[in-house]
Amino acid sequence: MLEKGKNVLYNLSLGGITMERLQKVIASSGYSSRRKAEELIKKGVVFVNGKKVTELGTKVESTDEIVVDGHSLSVENKEYYLLYKPSGVITTTSDEKNRKTVVDLIKTDKRIYPVGRLDYDTTGVLLLTNDGEFANILMHPSNEIEKVYLAKINGILAKSEMAALRSGVLIDGKKTAPAKVKIKQYNKSSNLSLIEITIHEGKNHQVKKMFEAVNHTVVKLKRERLGFFTLDNLKTGEYRRLTIKEVKKVYAMKGE
Ligand code: URA
Repeated sequence: MLEKGKNVLYNLSLGGITMERLQKVIASSGYSSRRKAEELIKKGVVFVNGKKVTELGTKVESTDEIVVDGHSLSVENKEYYLLYKPSGVITTTSDEKNRKTVVDLIKTDKRIYPVGRLDYDTTGVLLLTNDGEFANILMHPSNEIEKVYLAKINGILAKSEMAALRSGVLIDGKKTAPAKVKIKQYNKSSNLSLIEITIHEGKNHQVKKMFEAVNHTVVKLKRERLGFFTLDNLKTGEYRRLTIKEVKKVYAMKGE
């Protein structure tokens, strides 16, 4: 029998795969390497539509239900994406002004939605999914998931301003949690600084408001990291699916 909790973790869509070798399908889902998949098949822990399969090379279809060691790979069709959000795209599922949304950038027939928000002009790491529990883990304040931003600001940060950002500033009447702040660059001729700021809260326009609180304007903002997710080799506007390992790792962060 499948355990419910386990089931949720491994339900990645095998999107579009038709008549493939079983070990290849298991590997493509991100569950394991192909060699490990072969071992699992031989070991007798792989079931296709409820029937044990021990023969390597058995062909399966994308609609077949594959269960490996008690974990279903295909029943609920959960999808998980990492998008390098470009500027000029709205972080929502639909927009009344008909502007392009982050969901428009991803080819899927599933009703996915963004995990948290980036402003229209902010770029960088954005996750999208149709798995509510996964999204909740990443967004729940108690999990304190780190978000690393690179902010281009006008002027240069004074020591006292850095200290204020680090210990917390008032935005909308509430003090922000401690942040990590690093000056990465200062360009004297343009009078612009590049600052790396790490926060774990997700208030509306938080980074821009934090800099405003110390009298600097953010002219460009990019999210470089969300938890352990970085932009890797993606270019702006590109996206990739998460692997099962990554999804499992997020689930493991729950209530840490
Ligand atoms: N903080 C902001 O001000 N904007 C973003 O898009 C994200 C964090």
